[in-house]
Amino acid sequence: MAVSSLFRLLFFVFIITFVDGKCRDDQKTLLLELKSELVFDSSISKRLVKWNETDDCCKWRGVGCDDSGRVISLELQGEGISGRIGESSSLFRLTYLSKLDLSGNFATSEIPNQFHRLPNLASLGLSSSGFVGPIPSTLANLTQLVELHLSNNFLTGSIPSFHNCKNLESIYFSDNKLKGSLSHLHFQGLKNLSVLDLSQNALNGTIPHHLFTLPSISYLFLSYS
Ligand SMILES: *[C@@H]1O[C@H](CO)[C@@H](O)[C@H](O)[C@H]1NC(C)=O
Ligand SMILES: *[C@@H]1O[C@H](CO)[C@@H](O)[C@H](O)[C@H]1NC(C)=O
Ligand SMILES: *[C@@H]1O[C@H](CO)[C@@H](O)[C@H](O)[C@H]1NC(C)=O
Repeated sequence: MAVSSLFRLLFFVFIITFVDGKCRDDQKTLLLELKSELVFDSSISKRLVKWNETDDCCKWRGVGCDDSGRVISLELQGEGISGRIGESSSLFRLTYLSKLDLSGNFATSEIPNQFHRLPNLASLGLSSSGFVGPIPSTLANLTQLVELHLSNNFLTGSIPSFHNCKNLESIYFSDNKLKGSLSHLHFQGLKNLSVLDLSQNALNGTIPHHLFTLPSISYLFLSYS
């Protein structure tokens, strides 16, 4: 009896290990399309450069999957990616993504206006990547966002209001060229916001009083704003 139970257990362990985390074909296709779209320096890249058809894409460096083999995280920081991420990029069809990090690349283009097509994004990292132009207002449609990193780019224009993104905990917008003033709507009602860094920008006007009454706020950087 004991032996047969053990055997059955081993069989299930085998099945689970075999199935668990196996990349879905549609997800793999999207990742390979993304790789072929992106312009990157293969002497700098340590992850993207190694992605290929042969193995389970959930095991590729920089890729994370859930138990059903859907891609939920992509960490491609410092991969020597340059140029523009197109509005029709396969990136925006990886709709299960919850974490995306493209920091430390060389975009020198505008932030694409399509991130709202990734409704599950909780963490978006676009820091230190040479992004120019405005912060797309559609970023404020990402209601699951917890962390948003846009520091150290060349972003211009005014800051969209993120009052619909109720789960936000940290917002890093420092070291850009953001202008305009903050209204009473900006960051209003963000009960979980603990870090707000707007330092080193070109903002003007007065600091809305409600920023000081956000219940979770612990770091508020407004110097040289
Ligand atoms: C695909 O990737 C694996 C693991 O990184 C590597 O061993 C293999 O040589 C690669 N195959 C091709 C065709 O590049
Ligand atoms: C973004 O949110 C605004 C306000 O909630 C809404 O009017 C707009 O249609 C949304 N845009 C997209 C592209 O989802
Ligand atoms: C805020 O944080 C609490 C505690 O971690 C969590 O339960 C809640 O879902 C978060 N979001 C909002 C909108 O309160």
